[in-house]
Amino acid sequence: MARDRLSVVVTRRLPEAVEKRMSELFDVELREDDTPMDRTELVAAVQRADVLVPTITDQIDAALIGQAGEQLKLIANYGAGVNNIDVATARQRGILVSNTPDVLTEDTADMTMALILSVTRRIPEGLAVMQKGEWPGWAPTAYLGGRIAGRRLGILGMGRIGQAVARRAQAFGMQVHYHDRGRLRPETEAELNVTWWESLDRMVARMDILTIHTPATPSTFHLMNARRLKLMKPDSVLVNTSRGEVVDENALTRMLRAGEIAGAGLDVYEFGTDINPRLRELPNVVLLPHMGSATVEGRIEMGEKVIINIKTFEDGHRPPDQVVPSML
Ligand code: 8YV
Repeated sequence: MARDRLSVVVTRRLPEAVEKRMSELFDVELREDDTPMDRTELVAAVQRADVLVPTITDQIDAALIGQAGEQLKLIANYGAGVNNIDVATARQRGILVSNTPDVLTEDTADMTMALILSVTRRIPEGLAVMQKGEWPGWAPTAYLGGRIAGRRLGILGMGRIGQAVARRAQAFGMQVHYHDRGRLRPETEAELNVTWWESLDRMVARMDILTIHTPATPSTFHLMNARRLKLMKPDSVLVNTSRGEVVDENALTRMLRAGEIAGAGLDVYEFGTDINPRLRELPNVVLLPHMGSATVEGRIEMGEKVIINIKTFEDGHRPPDQVVPSML
């Protein structure tokens, strides 16, 4: 017996190729303008969709899930991080959640290295002087940064992206250290040539550069709180391409202004687009607009993952990238 096609509601504009393929496969409602849905639109979406495809800009919280119609069976997130979704409540309601891991690992790791180099080698300052046409010419003492070869890199969160950063950092001649809840297998540690620290505090106190790669969960909220930030060496740099909530951003801003940390490279923010002007104005801080995974290839592959998750579900199987609360 032929089944009706699944009704899929997508909350944001996606790459054209992804939208085209979705339209061929599903009864899909695409977003016409590239703005996030407001709450009313989201409520209406969960009341009519069999499958919702949200992004990080949509809060799929318990209250919203509570308003979902019986027909909603899958939330196929366009994104790896699922901190925008109340996965436990979805599960209680029998709604599956899936994400898009793997395909943004390399791009995010590349951007992490870009931020490390931007801060330590003062790239934005060089760019600004060139754009203003104010470069007086080469000088032996101009724009001196710090060499990263031989420096200690601490990776907080050694999942896929953390490991991809470790591989890159080795190629740059860095000494790579990490902290995670669990230790890697000895052969992985040996392959990556990384040193495990059981104590995050101790690792933080010894690193030249600390880079964050944990998901945002209740247990990682403000993992880098004021007390821990103060353990960092005054000449060290903090980089974050994971989630803003992992760092106490106000404490970080205060410390950067006081010169208690030498610099920061941030792609994600605790308060979303509401970025503290005092953070924005610092010359030793490089801020990017959450573009860690923003490559053409990555965005298309994320879409392909979403499609595979929906199609597999439609065919009566578990989506390959299903997320369950115990994974978080
Ligand atoms: C995504 C991200 O672009 O996938 C993630 O977890 O942080 C981003 O790089 C975004 O989440 C899309 O929803």
